Amino acid sequence: MKDFLIAPSILSANFAKLGEEVDNVLAAGADVVHFDVMDNHYVPNLTIGPMVCQALRDHGVTAPIDVHLMVKPVDRIIPDFAKAGASIITFHPEASEHIDRSLQLIKDSGCQAGLVFNPATPLHCLEHVMDKVDVILLMSVNPGFGGQSFIPGTLDKLRQARALIDQSGRDIRLEIDGGVNVNNIAEIAAAGADMFVAGSAIFNQPDYQAVISQMRSELAK
Ligand code: DX5
Ligand code: ZN
Repeated sequence: MKDFLIAPSILSANFAKLGEEVDNVLAAGADVVHFDVMDNHYVPNLTIGPMVCQALRDHGVTAPIDVHLMVKPVDRIIPDFAKAGASIITFHPEASEHIDRSLQLIKDSGCQAGLVFNPATPLHCLEHVMDKVDVILLMSVNPGFGGQSFIPGTLDKLRQARALIDQSGRDIRLEIDGGVNVNNIAEIAAAGADMFVAGSAIFNQPDYQAVISQMRSELAK
């Protein structure tokens, strides 16, 4: 079977008991912790920063932490997240003045680097930086909030991104974020995704293990 990663978005977790929530979702079979950083500037919402990432590491979380930056500017927060224990750092190209520099900064900080594409953002800026990206993240909702519906046009874009990755011959993860649930995950995988962020679909259910195993059985079909 293909190597699929399930990355619960802690945006939909209970922040009053975040450490416990992360422990529970990892024990339920999640692979990666998806960490949404919003600045009330690039996106109209405000969430968590490096201190919370560090707190999860101090709490004993050893799983990869996938930091999704929805902030502008991008560069000055990168070293702070790397120091706080981030494993992957992704950012939106619109939010960086110098995309190549931001990618390089992430790699120089010892993390895996990725670009995030909003639903209406074309993929063409990948052309000259494919050698620097470890992850391509396609947004299947407009960023800023959990609990929105998957935008169906993203399936075609996933196929485009998968073709670019195959042409590059590089080992690049294709991550999808927004409106992913048990009912659409198989179709999303068939379009080429291999890393699945899911916030409300997991944290709004009482039994995380049941949802994650349903997702895995959909992926095995
Ligand atoms: C939205 C965030 C997502 C969000 C996904 O801007 O990037 O990670 O938490 O939430 P769901 O899975 O509920 O759409
Ligand atoms: Zn996200």
